[in-house]
Amino acid sequence: MKVKSVPAVLKHLASNLRKMLFLAWQMDNRVTIGYYLTAGVGALAPLATSLTLKYLIDNLLVHQTPSITNSIPFIIVIVLAARYLVVMGTDLVQWGLNGVYFDYLFRYKLQNELNRRFYQKLAHLDIAYFEDPGTQNLIAKAKDTLTWRPPDFLRHFSYSLGSFIAYLSAFIVLMPFGWWIPVVITLTTLPRLFLRARYGTVQWSIYGSGAPQVRKLWYFMWLLSTDTAIREMRIFQSQDTLLARFKNIQDYIFNLNKKPLDNYLRILTFPEILEVVVLFVIAFSQLPAVLSGILTIGSFTLLVNMIDQLNGNAVGFVINFGEMYEHNLYVDHYFEVLGLPKIIKEVKNPVVFKKFSPPKIEFKNVYFCYPKGPMVLKDISFVINPGEKIALIGSNGAGKSTIIKLICRFYDVTKGEILINGKNIKRLKLSNWYKFMGTLFQDFVQYHFTARENITLGDPTKKDEGLIKEAAIKSGAYEFIEKLPKGFDQVLGREFEKGEELSIGQWQKLAIARAFYEEAPLLVLDEPTSAIDAEAEYEIFNNLQKTYKDKTLILVSHRFSTVRNANKIFVVEDGQVTERGSHQELLNLNGKYARMFKLQAKGYR
Ligand SMILES: Nc1ncnc2c1ncn2[C@@H]1O[C@H](COP(=O)(O)OP(=O)(O)OP(=O)(O)O)[C@@H](O)[C@H]1O
Ligand SMILES: [Mg+2]
Repeated sequence: MKVKSVPAVLKHLASNLRKMLFLAWQMDNRVTIGYYLTAGVGALAPLATSLTLKYLIDNLLVHQTPSITNSIPFIIVIVLAARYLVVMGTDLVQWGLNGVYFDYLFRYKLQNELNRRFYQKLAHLDIAYFEDPGTQNLIAKAKDTLTWRPPDFLRHFSYSLGSFIAYLSAFIVLMPFGWWIPVVITLTTLPRLFLRARYGTVQWSIYGSGAPQVRKLWYFMWLLSTDTAIREMRIFQSQDTLLARFKNIQDYIFNLNKKPLDNYLRILTFPEILEVVVLFVIAFSQLPAVLSGILTIGSFTLLVNMIDQLNGNAVGFVINFGEMYEHNLYVDHYFEVLGLPKIIKEVKNPVVFKKFSPPKIEFKNVYFCYPKGPMVLKDISFVINPGEKIALIGSNGAGKSTIIKLICRFYDVTKGEILINGKNIKRLKLSNWYKFMGTLFQDFVQYHFTARENITLGDPTKKDEGLIKEAAIKSGAYEFIEKLPKGFDQVLGREFEKGEELSIGQWQKLAIARAFYEEAPLLVLDEPTSAIDAEAEYEIFNNLQKTYKDKTLILVSHRFSTVRNANKIFVVEDGQVTERGSHQELLNLNGKYARMFKLQAKGYR
């Protein structure tokens, strides 16, 4: 395994440390200062207690009398009292203020801030990233570790800082005993530093290399706990097979992490033996000075304490630095997600449509392929005039949903252009363009909120009770909402307590109500009624024809009963529009459409 050079490691760490500290500072500068300041002051606690102990011992020895209890000199009482005052004071700062109070504030505020920034970024991330496995992996890794790795990175920085201050103070106190003492002790801790750095790298790269497996593990966890999957597994009796695969992945990841850990533990013994031997020899070398009276007993106690403190904190620094180094590699994932660049870029001074009316949409020789994929749309041209009702029909995988995604500009065309009111879609201000669109995707969302919220989320900027009811009536959702125990205030889904579950068709009606509520001049529906019964569907489309009389409607459907009412029907086959016209025109053409229509109609006879 390649180990990065020490300067490179330090540079990398310093860069992330700067970013994290800046983030903490922006989050709450007072808490950040409080946290690090108390850590720094607390680090001086052992020195303060050791010093008072030295004075106590030296004074006891100087004032030694046969009957010590009869006349305890004033000075000893003062030193003794001072020692406990110091202990109390430092305890208060180190444990009370730093370890409990600021630690709590700092950690939880930081976690909240990290989460907020993360989900804010995801909310504005290009849709293309969510359909890309590489980015999915990165997001999954960052999400899994962001609540503890980055905060712990900063906590270990605080521990490192404390160790460093304690180390430095011991170093200075030991100098008068012989400058070589702190230097030699420091040198003996270096092997540990190297091992820790190496171990950290190994762990991280395993996480990195095991990432696809880690994601698979999560997928299995999801699968093995989802009601629909469990139902299916029960009947197909596939649970044992799936559980066995689950265990295989677990074992694989465990072993990846276990081997380097074993090695690390084995080699770690040697530096530890070295350190203990060196400490003993140094303490031992000072004994003659004590016996000959050059060194007071108090000073010798201080020496031994400070040797321990120097070594302990050098090691502590190394360990905490190592922890920081390890967390640092995960902090990378976090900032990598936060730094994902925009794929769909808006131009400077984008076009903003002021008139809120149905737009004209034009595809001009559009070609499109998904990143790293084959050509999915090939030379597509069509015009949708304001107010037209358009239906897209075609086999699975023909490219219908892809056309919708391009109208939403989730992706940019590979070749050709899309014009909205004569302007290239790349020049539009997207937030303005989306105001014109009401869209319902094939995989629409079931919000486990109230029925009302499920509708108003179509346009969170308005609150219009009349409109909510109207949208619900038109979509056919009103009938079942009315019967819910709490009506429009009923929480839906099983996610929360007292939630009422709906049927798929009912969820779909609610989603259509959401689209109705937005009252956008362009409504795009990708198979909106696949789960809705024939009668209700007839109603919905009747309402659509009435409500959307002057508005544009683009509809993807496999049902000819729905499609036949469109002004224009586009037959999409293998990424191309092969036939176009009204229902009657296409029947007369006697091509693919006519064939499909007759096939479906035959089924109903
Ligand atoms: N995110 C994606 N990345 C790569 N390829 C994709 C992606 N989404 C769709 N495809 C591919 O693009 C082609 C067209 O898919 P699309 O979803 O547009 O079909 P569709 O006509 O809507 O089909 P259906 O009727 O099943 O909804 C398919 O071959 C599919 O495999
Ligand atoms: Mg589709």
